[in-house]
Amino acid sequence: MKIPQNKIDEIAASTDIVDVISAYTPLRKAGRNFMGRCPFHEERTPSFSVSQEKGVYHCFGCGKSGNVFTFMMDIDNVTFYDAVKTLADKANIKIDYEYEPYDPDRNKIELLYEINNRAGRYFHENLMGRNGAYAKEYLHERGLKEDIIKKFGLGYSLREKDALYKKFQNDFSTEELIASGLVLNIGANLPAEASAQAGEIRDRFRGRLMFPVFNEAGKVVAFGGRRMDDDSGDEAKYINSPETKIYNKSKTLYGLNFAKNKIKESDYVILVEGYMDLISLFQNGVENVVASSGTSLTALHSKIISRYTKEVVIVYDSDLAGQNASRRAIELIIENGMNVNIIPLPRGDDPDTYIKKHGTDGFRNLLNKKQSIIDYIGESYISRGMLESPEDKTEFVREIIGLIAKMRDEIKRDFYIKDIAERFSIYESIIRKELDKTLKLKSKGLTREIDDKLISKAEKDTSFKEHPQTFEISLIKMLFYGDDLTKDYIINNLNIKDLNNPASIKIIDFLIRTFSDNKKINIANLFNTFPEGLENKIIGNALLDESSVLEENRNYINDVKSLLNQINITKSYKKLYIRNN
Ligand code: UTP
Ligand code: MN
Repeated sequence: MKIPQNKIDEIAASTDIVDVISAYTPLRKAGRNFMGRCPFHEERTPSFSVSQEKGVYHCFGCGKSGNVFTFMMDIDNVTFYDAVKTLADKANIKIDYEYEPYDPDRNKIELLYEINNRAGRYFHENLMGRNGAYAKEYLHERGLKEDIIKKFGLGYSLREKDALYKKFQNDFSTEELIASGLVLNIGANLPAEASAQAGEIRDRFRGRLMFPVFNEAGKVVAFGGRRMDDDSGDEAKYINSPETKIYNKSKTLYGLNFAKNKIKESDYVILVEGYMDLISLFQNGVENVVASSGTSLTALHSKIISRYTKEVVIVYDSDLAGQNASRRAIELIIENGMNVNIIPLPRGDDPDTYIKKHGTDGFRNLLNKKQSIIDYIGESYISRGMLESPEDKTEFVREIIGLIAKMRDEIKRDFYIKDIAERFSIYESIIRKELDKTLKLKSKGLTREIDDKLISKAEKDTSFKEHPQTFEISLIKMLFYGDDLTKDYIINNLNIKDLNNPASIKIIDFLIRTFSDNKKINIANLFNTFPEGLENKIIGNALLDESSVLEENRNYINDVKSLLNQINITKSYKKLYIRNN
């Protein structure tokens, strides 16, 4: 089914792109546009520009550009169709569908959702059926009730080597099933002669308890499978789905789809490590929780969290791995401008075992005793008997300062400095001096980052095949902004063969054809035609580059003339040059 173009236009017109993007990254008015830190790549200084009037965005750092639809597609990993639907709902616009031509890419993504959804139901049926009795018993032993098993869609994968494959074979191709990560081609990576089983297809998950992993919208995108016999040799405790077109580990937080409203409501989030931890807390009525299951917390995870709250409480396992993971998570959360507190659990406990032993009230009491990063790191020194000598104290202060230096908010930094000075009887001035040193080092690191960027840009610039030439960009701008006479003049006088850069040629050709068909050029819609690649970057750059802003609907014929002259001169110069050599 297809959504008619006039609907798409209507939805775009009733949607404020600044509103939509602000939910993902804070934007500030800067000149005609809005600026913020790019939600698509890591950066400290804002280079992401949004034009409210035009309904488009462009990142001068990573080059991503688009309109409100491509934004939703990229940030939420959804299809164009789903992005339009979501925004239509928000704008309260009803869509009447038309018949839609075949779109291979859209269907690939939709197919992955379909396979994962079906697999989720299939594993769940296994668990509820005769073959799942043992797994069910295991879950009951671990205290999980029927309704929570349903809510989280827990399941069981049969022990046979290809139960799922056989079951799904009729409805999906082997290739599609492999792409979903649910089945594996055992011999695929071995030379045929090295493996008698080369080419054998098997289920990835066999005889395991299955945890469906949901995306933010609540669709199943992957699975975690836990083995149930804790002594079953060297088999991994958990096996997880590989990354696919719909599953990006570093962007997916387990439980977020269930927790998001409670997180907003309580304005803080509890961060745990495991599937079981999260489910166990939910069963006990603690629902503002997410888990970074299957991987350690990433910068993108913390960015996603910051869309819901700026207050994080880490409750990781008490073992060494948990402590190390906490340290890394603390840094990432601070770097994203959020507050973080930590709850250390008694030795041997994780959130699941703790809440089982002490109940919801016991767990809530623990939350009231949360530690600041200063308490937490201080305590780790004390527990190692390392806060006695001046040397130890110095090391401790250095470590804390390293964290404070990552905070972006100067007032917050100041607060922490005062706190340390008081608690550890150190002069504030000494702490400040140390912090300044650290910040200077950091800013040097930053410059190196920028240099790398410049170098790689310069490398790319060596060929106009990869980069458009200035006159090409100018022509594109004039086709955007010039009045009808200007556009006519370009159409009648430009020989498109004189252009060099293939991407610019595509864009200009498209603009000219649209205009000649007597169609108005809708600038934001251009991104639906050019959703990616160099074309996408060029358009975004031409639209949002503030260094040479053109006026809308002005006559630019004289500028076009001199541009075309310039092109002709280059051309004859080239001819001359070729003839003489
Ligand atoms: P845990 O070992 O703490 O597991 O790993 P858990 O969720 O508490 O499970 P139980 O209580 O022992 O049954 C924490 C998380 O790390 C990931 C899983 O997402 C798990 O939930 N993990 C762990 C893996 O991906 N692979 C592993 O082999 C182990
Ligand atoms: Mn556990």
